[in-house]
Amino acid sequence: MLLTVVLSLVLVMIVLVGMGVALYIPLRIVSLLISDYFGAPFEPLAMDLVRKSLQLIGPQPGQRILDMGSGDARVLIEAVRQYQMQAVGYELAWYPYLVSFIRLHYLKLWSEITIVFANFFKADLTTFDVVMSYQEPPEILLLRDKYLREMPDHAWLISPRFKVPDWPVTRSDTSGQYPIYVYAMGTIRQELKFA
Ligand SMILES: C[S@@+](CC[C@H](N)C(=O)[O-])C[C@H]1O[C@@H](n2cnc3c(N)ncnc32)[C@H](O)[C@@H]1O
Repeated sequence: MLLTVVLSLVLVMIVLVGMGVALYIPLRIVSLLISDYFGAPFEPLAMDLVRKSLQLIGPQPGQRILDMGSGDARVLIEAVRQYQMQAVGYELAWYPYLVSFIRLHYLKLWSEITIVFANFFKADLTTFDVVMSYQEPPEILLLRDKYLREMPDHAWLISPRFKVPDWPVTRSDTSGQYPIYVYAMGTIRQELKFA
């Protein structure tokens, strides 16, 4: 009798795990395709580069940071924990969104960090002091005008790995796996004579 119950439980668990895996794989693939279609794929920035990115601009407590495609929220978590910034992320793919949701709950940071499940092209950048944009060249080209139109003069744009085409780099760090490029929006507007 006991053996039958144990065997039944094991069978149920095997079926549940199998269903979980069978569901997870296609959903993970769909998530990857969404990331890739709308922007850069989910490739979290190495933590040392996250730290270097923020060190380059020296954020102040209370300043607002927006991560365009916030992935697992590592940039936002670092910004809140190390610099007491106010942090918002936009994330469109369900898998990184779910990972960030779980991480923020586990770290009890859900009330301090807002992750919007939406396309970052819909984000209003006018109230942010820092914008993190770890995207690939095609999206950077599309986003460039939005940054020029919406970001305040005093704000910083951080672009890991890829430069913003035709923009003079304000600061950079090339000591890590990828270079980090940082742009002071006021300077960029002056240099480009953008009214
Ligand atoms: C290279 S990862 C960067 C993740 C994170 N910012 C980091 O530095 O670790 C790019 C992220 O952007 C997200 N993404 C791509 N296109 C997007 C879009 N149009 N709107 C919102 N998120 C997008 C992807 O799903 C992915 O999580």
